[in-house]
Amino acid sequence: MLFDLPGVAELARERVAQAGLAQRIACHGGSFRDDALPQGADLITLLRVAHDHADEAVVGLLRSIWSALPQGGHLLLAEPMAEPGGQPSRSDAYFHFYLLAMGRGRLRTAAELSALIRQAGFGEVRTIANPVPLHGTLLLARKS
Ligand SMILES: C[S@@+](CC[C@H](N)C(=O)[O-])C[C@H]1O[C@@H](n2cnc3c(N)ncnc32)[C@H](O)[C@@H]1O
Repeated sequence: MLFDLPGVAELARERVAQAGLAQRIACHGGSFRDDALPQGADLITLLRVAHDHADEAVVGLLRSIWSALPQGGHLLLAEPMAEPGGQPSRSDAYFHFYLLAMGRGRLRTAAELSALIRQAGFGEVRTIANPVPLHGTLLLARKS
């Protein structure tokens, strides 16, 4: 299942149909600010989404994800993250400039994102090792 803004979901639906995958991939149009997420997934991925939105919107989205998941379901959040203070910088330089050019958004540290995930109701949040952290750090949380 894919969930994105209506115009994006429509384009995705066309692309999925062209690829002959319409029986396997359902595209749902809506806004996570106003609409409930589709039910039935045991894993929900958020790829490069949180950094575009303020804390309040991100916690709202994470709460919707928590509600849409069954007990034992997982959230996988992947995006570039800021390095904690004092650590060697990896992705920071590139992505801070990228978001500056985009005119909005900010990188959060893994600890900041983990706190938002816990605020939304998830228990343990763990970091999954990624050999190319420039592209994204992975956080996995379980609905217990
Ligand atoms: C930076 S893109 C990442 C897209 C894709 N996950 C990737 O990694 O290539 C952020 C996505 O969030 C979607 N988005 C932004 N605001 C949204 C909202 N309120 N509801 C649903 N999707 C939204 C955008 O349309 C866009 O597809």
